Amino acid sequence: MKMHDNTILITGGSSGIGLELARQLIALNNKVIITGRDAAKLAAVRAQLPAVHTALCDVTDPRSITALHEHIAASHPGMNMLINCAGIMRKLNLHKRGPALEDATREVTTNLNGTIWTNLQFLPMLKNQANAAIVNVSSGLAFVPMPISPVYSATKAAIHSYTLSLRAQLKNSGVRVFELAPPGTETPLFHNDFTKEDVGGLVPMPVATLVKRAIAGLAADVAEIRPGLSNILKIASRLAPDFMLRQLGKSVDLMLNADKNR
Ligand SMILES: NC(=O)c1ccc[n+]([C@@H]2O[C@H](COP(=O)([O-])OP(=O)(O)OC[C@H]3O[C@@H](n4cnc5c(N)ncnc54)[C@H](OP(=O)(O)O)[C@@H]3O)[C@@H](O)[C@H]2O)c1
Repeated sequence: MKMHDNTILITGGSSGIGLELARQLIALNNKVIITGRDAAKLAAVRAQLPAVHTALCDVTDPRSITALHEHIAASHPGMNMLINCAGIMRKLNLHKRGPALEDATREVTTNLNGTIWTNLQFLPMLKNQANAAIVNVSSGLAFVPMPISPVYSATKAAIHSYTLSLRAQLKNSGVRVFELAPPGTETPLFHNDFTKEDVGGLVPMPVATLVKRAIAGLAADVAEIRPGLSNILKIASRLAPDFMLRQLGKSVDLMLNADKNR
């Protein structure tokens, strides 16, 4: 895949992996549009990265995705690559319920519905472009779940499965389909809801390294890009699935005891 002179839309580009993708892709001479829900965060990114274009969009709201599509078709009609990066991740104790049942599936609405809806909305436009691609961001947890984040892990396994089907269905379309499965990566998401003990002392990959690996994978047409620990999780999910699940499940007792003592 040619990694220069593209017009690239990145959902969830105001922070973390999406923001670093924007930085590195702009440095490679691509036009980049990032989205997010927070106008102030987008303005702060524009201040430090003047070449970036920004648009407000909440991927949990289909009308917001339709409005984004109208804006992109009018202002950036050459858009040929979509990177679905918007995502949220929480610890979730399945013994407990919040005031609203749907709070338990917020990750599904953002990570999974958001990705599927955005792809569906932009696919006709992508099919008309040369060097067109969709990149779905999953996770190493697509291959083995981390039980303290059960719904998040399920969304990432679902994105992996959906991406396999999307690639099969688009095989004759000219739109290439990639999956980027990051390992634990140094971003706000990694620290928001998680302590060092929660992640078994895992040292996250620097975000600049992850993005370099991602761009190298796209340039080499690697359909499933699994940097670092993500590749180990994929292999272990085949060779020693129970062992790997036990490793990732070690922080369950910590979470349950902490909630009991609260
Ligand atoms: N960091 C890791 O360890 C890791 C590992 C594997 C996979 N990933 C995946 O990588 C992706 C990026 O994560 P990150 O670590 O870079 O997290 P991050 O720094 O928290 O960034 C998340 C981005 O998503 C946006 N976002 C969240 N909800 C949204 C919504 N409803 N609509 C539109 N945008 C929304 C956020 O912007 P606003 O809040 O301003 O809307 C922000 O720009 C996620 O899909 C995540 O699951 C991360």
